[in-house]
Amino acid sequence: MLDLRDLYVHPPSPAVELRAFTHGLMPRTVPEQMAGFCTDWAERGVDAWNSVPDRWGLGHPTGWWSLPGDLADTYVAPMLGAAPGTCILQPNVHWTVQCLLSCDEPFDDRTDVVFTAGEFPSVRHSVQRWNGLRDVRPVEVALEDGRVDVDAVLEAVTDRTAWVMISHVGFATGAVLTDDEIQRIVEVAHRHGALVAIDGYHATASIPVEVETLGVDVYFGGLLKEASGSSGNAHLYVRSSLDLRPRLAGWFADADPFGFCDEPQDHPIVRRRFLAGTTAVASMYHAVEGMRILLDAGIPTVRQDTLAKGAHALDRASALGIAVRSPRDDERRGAMIVLEVEHASRMARWLKTQDVYVDARRDEVVRFAPFVWNTVEDVDRLFDALGRALESGEHLALEAPEEGGPVT
Ligand SMILES: Cc1ncc(COP(=O)(O)O)c(C=O)c1O
Repeated sequence: MLDLRDLYVHPPSPAVELRAFTHGLMPRTVPEQMAGFCTDWAERGVDAWNSVPDRWGLGHPTGWWSLPGDLADTYVAPMLGAAPGTCILQPNVHWTVQCLLSCDEPFDDRTDVVFTAGEFPSVRHSVQRWNGLRDVRPVEVALEDGRVDVDAVLEAVTDRTAWVMISHVGFATGAVLTDDEIQRIVEVAHRHGALVAIDGYHATASIPVEVETLGVDVYFGGLLKEASGSSGNAHLYVRSSLDLRPRLAGWFADADPFGFCDEPQDHPIVRRRFLAGTTAVASMYHAVEGMRILLDAGIPTVRQDTLAKGAHALDRASALGIAVRSPRDDERRGAMIVLEVEHASRMARWLKTQDVYVDARRDEVVRFAPFVWNTVEDVDRLFDALGRALESGEHLALEAPEEGGPVT
């Protein structure tokens, strides 16, 4: 199994961080990268927009202006099996979805956006909010026992469908759509003249993805979690020759940004059309440090490792009689494992007192993900502690949650 522990900064020992699906650990190289931002700003000032030293291993000169495309070509495109020139960094998925829904072409004579009740709010709520902003009709497909029903998704696609927007890995279930399922969705959508956008946030850098083989039109996600890129760094792929023209594009996306023309003009390069106002460049200094580690290890190797550590976790759960809500079979299991635990919130808080960091949702489930920085011993620490709590009920004695932010 992989042990890339030493390449990341961990919370003070003996704490074990098992929440890769919320915010990845910081790669050790990040402080040097951030110092690089300060140096470039101090030493180059305005000229850093045109030229900064290559701190990212791009192998060619770059500048703040071209970083979103340059980083995407070197790190995002290989991760997605995409051609250079088709990917770009984005500030977050929410922005990407607004841009996609603001494109006129997919909505020519069409109104429907098909998605499932399992989409993250950046997709689900955005589609709902666009209903009324333009002639968008949200078509929400119910989940079946908490899982995506692919046949129901296919049935919802008609000649009125503009987009199908669907998650590669469910954020609440950790359930993976198989390549076959994505290809079936693409095949049916395309037969009806609709486009397919995949929200790959929980697949990013942990599950091998080949966008061209899948045939998807758009694939987006974020680098915050397993990819350890922290906030401000999301990514977008647009199939080459797909002429999307987001109306929400900002002046950084303009064909002649410094012409300050009377009217906006779409940039000739499609990926550039998804830029907004001034790019937040500081976050791009830490964007790909985690990706470097995972691409060096190889995403298929990362996937095998996650599955092996996950399988060990499932064995330990069975031994304790804990029901597992996430899929068991390898093809459908992502990095995240979801356990049904009564009083899950108190359990997660109690586990923190034992220096094991997981999270809880709706007081029903405990979620965790053993990732490349975790060892099998970390998984054992979690289950040893769970076993103690379930036997003694110690966690039930915890008082009301302490004050603080909403993140668990
Ligand atoms: C599937 C999925 N999509 C999107 C997001 C977040 O999107 P945004 O970048 O808009 O915060 C998350 C965050 O957890 C997610 O799980």
